[in-house]
Amino acid sequence: MALEEVWLEKYRPDTLDEVLGQDHVIDRLQGYVDAGQLPHLLFAGPAGVGKTTCAIALAKQLFGDDWENNFQELNASDERGINTVRTKIKDFARTAPLGEADFKVIFLDEADNLTSDAQAALRRTMEQYAQTCRFILSCNYSSRIIDPIQSRCTIFRFRPIPEEGIRSMVERVAKREGLSIDEEAMEAVEYIADGDMRGAVNTVQMAASVSTDIDSDVIYEAATAARPEEVEDMVGLALEAEYLDARDKLDTLLVDQGLSGEDVVKQVHKTLVDAPVDDELKVRLIDRLGDTEYRLVMGANERVQLEAMLAHFGIADDEA
Ligand SMILES: Nc1ncnc2c1ncn2[C@@H]1O[C@H](COP(=O)(O)OP(=O)(O)OP(=O)(O)O)[C@@H](O)[C@H]1O
Ligand SMILES: [Mg+2]
Repeated sequence: MALEEVWLEKYRPDTLDEVLGQDHVIDRLQGYVDAGQLPHLLFAGPAGVGKTTCAIALAKQLFGDDWENNFQELNASDERGINTVRTKIKDFARTAPLGEADFKVIFLDEADNLTSDAQAALRRTMEQYAQTCRFILSCNYSSRIIDPIQSRCTIFRFRPIPEEGIRSMVERVAKREGLSIDEEAMEAVEYIADGDMRGAVNTVQMAASVSTDIDSDVIYEAATAARPEEVEDMVGLALEAEYLDARDKLDTLLVDQGLSGEDVVKQVHKTLVDAPVDDELKVRLIDRLGDTEYRLVMGANERVQLEAMLAHFGIADDEA
């Protein structure tokens, strides 16, 4: 294996029909390729599910060998500001498309990080170059995109990749890289990835740098994630008001396994969603978890917040 060869790039689909788990999107995008036409598009969805991949595949299929001349990827939240972005758009849009194409494509990542003023400016730019350019905007949350832009775009909602999709990619990588991945490890990758293909491929690559014989231990270690059972144990103890034991478990996660506070919150969330407790209690627990996450993001002390959450879980049932 070449040093530092990034599997994400190596295994990135080149064509739309290689994209996994987004069939509802792919069929319609393929229709644009067949027609040789494209409206402005808005791709919305979580990280690592194929938004950039689809934009590039679309350009490759629309433009063939000329694709790189007719396709420009920009980051909307370029730290130098929206004016830099608009200048780059202008420079790119100024020259005519190459080859057979009658338009160029601008892919604008992280459009939802723009303020509404910046989005308004972007909208004017989109209009100004509508003759020669189609825009594909990418975002995590379409609700953060101003209405005038939304109404000018056809919206595509990308979904978390289902487990079969993650599995079939991991199997493909394993075959090509000569890895053996046992069933438990495969399930661990699915659990950790949680619908994010980037996460899945990265985890496998990190695991492969430890061993080509991959079991679940290698996976959890490579991903700095705890086994679901360990988090379930901790939550179970907290719910039984065994506070000190729950805190010991928390120590194991934070100190021995090196998870961050936010990692713990994320995994507790996954555990709670499937936990066998009644709905009303579940709502209160998740609500409390939300507070904890917020405080961590705001920079509060990790240990104090997580311990407070576990303590609270022990009395949540009495509060009804
Ligand atoms: N649906 C998919 N099928 C196959 N591979 C995928 C898919 N989605 C993502 N990947 C893999 O994960 C990598 C990251 O995907 P991509 O850049 O398309 O994510 P994204 O949706 O644009 O995420 P972000 O919101 O973080 O920009 C790709 O290089 C590719 O290898
Ligand atoms: Mg992207």
